[in-house]
Amino acid sequence: MNGTGSLVGAVALVTGAGGEIGGAIAARFAREGACVIVGDVRLDAANEQAKTITEQGGRALAVKLDVSDSQSCAMSVATACETFGKLTILVNVAAAVTRDGTVETLDLEDWNKALAVNITGPFLMAKFAVPAIRAAGGGSIINIASQLGQIGVPRRAPYSTTKAALIHFTKCLAGDHARDGIRVNSLSPGAIDTARSLRRFASREEANKERGPSYLLGRTGSVEEVAAGALFLASDESSFMTGADLLIDGGYLAFKGGLSAKYAE
Ligand SMILES: NC(=O)c1ccc[n+]([C@@H]2O[C@H](COP(=O)([O-])OP(=O)(O)OC[C@H]3O[C@@H](n4cnc5c(N)ncnc54)[C@H](O)[C@@H]3O)[C@@H](O)[C@H]2O)c1
Repeated sequence: MNGTGSLVGAVALVTGAGGEIGGAIAARFAREGACVIVGDVRLDAANEQAKTITEQGGRALAVKLDVSDSQSCAMSVATACETFGKLTILVNVAAAVTRDGTVETLDLEDWNKALAVNITGPFLMAKFAVPAIRAAGGGSIINIASQLGQIGVPRRAPYSTTKAALIHFTKCLAGDHARDGIRVNSLSPGAIDTARSLRRFASREEANKERGPSYLLGRTGSVEEVAAGALFLASDESSFMTGADLLIDGGYLAFKGGLSAKYAE
């Protein structure tokens, strides 16, 4: 394990770390020397990820965590502090998969599920993590939002609205805790090649063919590219950043619709 990594001495709690982006962040942080709490509502997936990290020489512990449940959030922070002595980094990755639809076709249940996991979750996690991070002398909170938190998206109001709220919550939290030495930033990925984002397509090839041209770089992103951004926000490399949103979207928002020869002159 890396004794000179940029997170040596750090203790990170990553929610949704049984999933693909959260797992990549947890693994990258461990390679940089952090002790990692791998939290997920799917304990088997969290265990699998923690095992992989440990086998690669890192320090990790899996916990069953439901971010929509206050007691579960409190327990995960307490476990981090008891196991590794402190908490210095929180990464809110967990998000609900919600049905597509309009206000006419979606149920209140769909709406409430998105709110409970995507925005109440980060609120609860921050509520219990802030005192612990302050007690450790400061640290970093990272909220994984989305490029879809910055634009309206057809038939995806619950997801898009909660991601927009998460970007705004980040700014409020940053203001409330800057003087505690806690930096708070959001990270907004564009489409990343995970099962979650590929579920709308028959194959990875079809997804790339359809989505690639909308991205200035001609392709969608990888989990490693998101993990690299999270590492930057977690480490001292971003020491003068707080309340910001780091967009890792291959140029999607800068030039929505992609390049077209028609407009190239
Ligand atoms: N994949 C993309 O294209 C993309 C793009 C932009 C933003 N994001 C965001 O990145 C994050 C991770 O996405 P992913 O593609 O890795 O998805 P994923 O489905 O692989 O990971 C999400 C994880 O969250 C967990 N989870 C769900 N509800 C939970 C709860 N109540 N408590 C704790 N854990 C819970 C799931 O079990 C899963 O392991 C999400 O916040 C997503 O909105 C993803």
